[in-house]
Amino acid sequence: MAMASPPPGLFSAISYVLLLLTAASATSPDIHEVFSYSGAKGPDNWGHISPEFSACSSGTHQSPVNIVTNQTVVNMGLSPLIRGYRPANATLVNNGFNVGIFFNQDAGFVGIEGKNYSLKQMHWHTPSEHQINGIQYPAELQLFHQAEDGGIAVIAVLYNYDKPDRFIGTIEGKLGEQGKETCGEDQESHIALGVMDPKNIKRHTRRYYRYLGSTTTPPCTEQVIWNIHGKVRKISKEQVEALRAPLFNDCKNNFRPLQSLNGRKIELYDEHNDAP
Ligand SMILES: *[C@@H]1O[C@H](CO)[C@@H](O)[C@H](O)[C@H]1NC(C)=O
Ligand SMILES: *[C@@H]1O[C@H](CO)[C@@H](O)[C@H](O)[C@H]1NC(C)=O
Ligand SMILES: *[C@@H]1O[C@H](CO)[C@@H](O)[C@H](O)[C@H]1NC(C)=O
Repeated sequence: MAMASPPPGLFSAISYVLLLLTAASATSPDIHEVFSYSGAKGPDNWGHISPEFSACSSGTHQSPVNIVTNQTVVNMGLSPLIRGYRPANATLVNNGFNVGIFFNQDAGFVGIEGKNYSLKQMHWHTPSEHQINGIQYPAELQLFHQAEDGGIAVIAVLYNYDKPDRFIGTIEGKLGEQGKETCGEDQESHIALGVMDPKNIKRHTRRYYRYLGSTTTPPCTEQVIWNIHGKVRKISKEQVEALRAPLFNDCKNNFRPLQSLNGRKIELYDEHNDAP
């Protein structure tokens, strides 16, 4: 990773995130040994598991948060999310704490504030981590992007129960295989997906919420640019079950509890406010 003399703590934190991001099968530690979503290694204790995770308890700009829509601030300076995604070879990875799609080729980028962040991976949380007006939805998709300087930008999409989601539909069969492969095993599972086109995810959003937060898994690294789509998408109950089935029992509800805003304002981009 190209980074000019980073602060040591930040570097190790980012390295760890990268490890999770890239999920290098041979080298990654058994993540399940590291943290969980309940019990002694659950979210309340993440900050005490390792000094590298201290931001999980001491950080003041943490994620996820509850988006109270009537307290968001319209920012006329925000731009539409410009996405230059392209088809790329991908792997379906089950870490045990979430299921995701990892690109091992250039999958394109999102442009935010004049900087390009490359799409590295996307994964789901069931139920959602972010809430809108106190509503926790059945699922949340998080698309992880990283810039050359290590900066992280995440685009999140919330889902409510309804018709099946077409994009998840394209990997449902593989999710089923994954459920079988990992059942009872404490190991990551990797299934080749071939070339996936991130453009198949409905991308256009007329509204999104922007705030500065953190990764929602240890090391809870801050300065993450969050972009949450204003429109809640549709997912079927079967699809939520398919996303949940391969996970460890103590990670099936893989959401981190809400974090305090600590004075942060959540900004709103709304297409309708754009000058004609
Ligand atoms: C914001 O919405 C909540 C309910 O969602 C309501 O209780 C509150 O009064 C509203 N505040 C303002 C300033 O409109
Ligand atoms: C972002 O990537 C696009 C496409 O490759 C390129 O045209 C643009 O100049 C890049 N922007 C920056 C700030 O690097
Ligand atoms: C595509 O990814 C699979 C793993 O999912 C890997 O085995 C294969 O070599 C990759 N193909 C290319 C062309 O990179």
